[in-house]
Amino acid sequence: MNSVPTPTVADARPHAASAVSSAPTVQPVVRIDALAYTYPDGTSVDYGDTQLEVRAGERVVVLGPNGAGKSTLLLHVLGLLEPQRGEARVLGRPAHRLPPAERAQVAALLQQVDEQIIGPTVWDDVAFAPRNLGLRQEDVSRLAERALRRLGIWHLAQKVPHALSAGERRKVALAGAIVFSDGERFGPRLMVLDEPFAALDPRSRGDLVALIDELRAAHGTAVLLSTHFVHAVPEFADTVYVLAPGGRIAAHGSPAEVFSQPEVLEAMDIEPPVLSQLFRSLEQRGISLPLPLTVEHAADLLASHCRSGGRRLPDNGRRR
Ligand SMILES: Nc1ncnc2c1ncn2[C@@H]1O[C@H](COP(=O)(O)OP(=O)(O)O)[C@@H](O)[C@H]1O
Ligand SMILES: [Mg+2]
Repeated sequence: MNSVPTPTVADARPHAASAVSSAPTVQPVVRIDALAYTYPDGTSVDYGDTQLEVRAGERVVVLGPNGAGKSTLLLHVLGLLEPQRGEARVLGRPAHRLPPAERAQVAALLQQVDEQIIGPTVWDDVAFAPRNLGLRQEDVSRLAERALRRLGIWHLAQKVPHALSAGERRKVALAGAIVFSDGERFGPRLMVLDEPFAALDPRSRGDLVALIDELRAAHGTAVLLSTHFVHAVPEFADTVYVLAPGGRIAAHGSPAEVFSQPEVLEAMDIEPPVLSQLFRSLEQRGISLPLPLTVEHAADLLASHCRSGGRRLPDNGRRR
């Protein structure tokens, strides 16, 4: 049911789950190589020689202090900036030359959400892209309603976007970004989210993580996300890149690898996740336990340590 109505539209709309099955062998969804960009006022961002890749189904988080170059990186991936050196490839092509059909498979949330909200009402804004593709009114309505309900903002449909709170506007932009995801055949192959957790309350942050996971499970969606909200990262990310001021990639790896180097994060003015801080403080007090990435894992480690009278170190997890 709810299949796509016309071949034209099907061609232009996000692909089905092909990305999931082909994950290990196909080219990465995103590939950044030796990228550098200088803004007209002379501000340069240079990501150095380290390659950054995002594969199908992978969640990659970019961390870095203000002005490090996170948004500049993501704008290249979205094809809104053209590399002056190096490459930004998406779905195997230069990102700034992605054909419309592929571009429609990329869901984007800009840091400045107001730049992507263009409709006079929330409904008009979310319905814009499917309407623009020439879908039948009933399909436009079905997709827009589904996206608004999925983001929990159906009740805001008739509101004027600029009258909404910052968090609500972010949800409107997200609804627009995923409007083609019909929960069945079509979903984005890539989500590019610039500071998506900003201005979201804890429940909304959890809802967003659930939405991302749902899309990944259904469509193998690759996720490239920048955030300051470091506490959500260990549980959320598969791979973390840490940018130094000026864009250089100062560290990258799994959350366990990156967050076990708190000195690298602190040098970049990034507050390490609270569990990293706690277990590092314990280590300074002579209690050396593996670094947990989740509260549950931390509780297991501490409970097991306490039960053994503080003598036995748990053997699960990685030693720091
Ligand atoms: N439009 C612009 N014109 C000039 N400089 C810019 C512009 N946008 C960003 N910059 C500069 O480029 C650097 C990287 O910015 P940005 O990518 O927005 O960093 P982040 O997202 O990590 O905070 C900063 O020094 C910033 O001031
Ligand atoms: Mg930014």
